[in-house]
Amino acid sequence: MDIALVILAAGKGTRMNSDLPKVLHPIAQAPMLAHALQAGAALEPARTVVVAGHGADLVRAAVAELDETAEVVLQEEQNGTAHAVDMARPALEEFEGDVVVLFGDTPFIRPETLDAMVAARGRHDMVILGFDTAHPDARYGRLVMQGDRLARIVEYKDASEEERAIRFCNSGLLACDAKTLFSLIAEVGNDNAAGEYYLTEVAELANARGLSVTAVKCDEAETLGINSRADLAEADAVFQARARAELLDLGVTLMAPETVYLAFDTYIGRDSVIEPNVVFGPGVTVESEATIRAFSHLEGCHVSRGATVGPFARLRPGAELAEHVHIGNFVEIKNAQIAEGAKVNHLSYIGDADVGAKTNIGAGTITCNYDGVMKHRTVIGERAFIGSNTMLVAPVTVGNDAMTATGSVITKDVPAEAMAVARARQENKPGLAVKLFEKLKAIKANKEKGQ
Ligand code: UD1
Ligand code: CA
Repeated sequence: MDIALVILAAGKGTRMNSDLPKVLHPIAQAPMLAHALQAGAALEPARTVVVAGHGADLVRAAVAELDETAEVVLQEEQNGTAHAVDMARPALEEFEGDVVVLFGDTPFIRPETLDAMVAARGRHDMVILGFDTAHPDARYGRLVMQGDRLARIVEYKDASEEERAIRFCNSGLLACDAKTLFSLIAEVGNDNAAGEYYLTEVAELANARGLSVTAVKCDEAETLGINSRADLAEADAVFQARARAELLDLGVTLMAPETVYLAFDTYIGRDSVIEPNVVFGPGVTVESEATIRAFSHLEGCHVSRGATVGPFARLRPGAELAEHVHIGNFVEIKNAQIAEGAKVNHLSYIGDADVGAKTNIGAGTITCNYDGVMKHRTVIGERAFIGSNTMLVAPVTVGNDAMTATGSVITKDVPAEAMAVARARQENKPGLAVKLFEKLKAIKANKEKGQ
């Protein structure tokens, strides 16, 4: 059966105290909404409709970037979750199949849970996802069960003492045939404590029609709703814990797992070792048997098998390290291909460059890639030796098997096999050092006498 995902994301998120719409706040460096879309993707939805309201233009732009097949509809006034789902009705007029409602601020639903909901839908007309809360005071809607039938959902605000004592809570996720759901929503009223159209009311309305309604249970951690910055930090921590555990399972060594910060899309291959205090930004792939040493920062880069990086290295977007490359301490690489076995071991900046296989870049080498207006490329061949403290003023090319002398400022291309020296020639003056010392000491003594 086809599935249409409806993601509710119109709410203001007042408690975030932010100009940014709540669903665009990042968890592991991707907007909350990206996590919700990713969770929903497990259902392979035929359609995805995001309901936006507060900051709709920003949400629209983010969705366009995250999933070009997703549609965004506008809910101008936030009159409640049923009203929000109703905003998707025109877009789904012709749709035959199930609607699964997901909240944009509840991004951690596991694929297994969604599968369980779909399976239960095979036996019931409507399925609600619930969880047992460990926090009896939590202000979630409560699920009133009769055996395996869900009789109704009561919002915390509207619940009696007895109903508030129920531990089984509403996650907000719901699965139901589209036509049935929209016809039930048409019957929802707003006669409640908040004066809102509650989606939760459809459960009782479905029962009144003689339809069968049930609830599926998941872990409370999965339904973690984010309403404040504190919740956001907790959600990030939950994500990190999960992602680290997955990497350990995949055969990656994390020497101090709790100090490694991962992005939503970090990929690390088997038998790689990650030392403490490493930060992964978005878009990093590390192949197997690589070592990322302590205090390194990586984003938008690729590290091939057997390469070593750090400690204290920075790989910026477009850094491509081939197999067995060595990047050492206080080295920054940006938009540069470093070919197999090449070494950049100390205190260097290599940006907008190609470095050939087995080339050695000496300590303190800088590619001067920026003239204040434009960026230029440095191309270094294979087996070259770049002497310490070489300035490579781009655009410039150094051929295969070439050398540059230490301290050179290279402004012209260096042919293959040549040695370039581009610095002032040294001259030695015999005995001059001693004479100079004596003169300086005499000046100092005179000054002290005068005081
Ligand atoms: C909702 C549920 C509650 C459940 C809880 C789980 C209802 C009436 N209540 O309560 O039973 O336990 O979630 O977290 O459904 N939204 C819109 N437009 C609106 C209103 C809300 O898009 O007009 C979106 C919000 O942006 C949010 C989601 O719907 O992503 C949930 O809304 P929220 O106001 O947070 O509902 P809760 O009071 O938490
Ligand atoms: Ca909420």
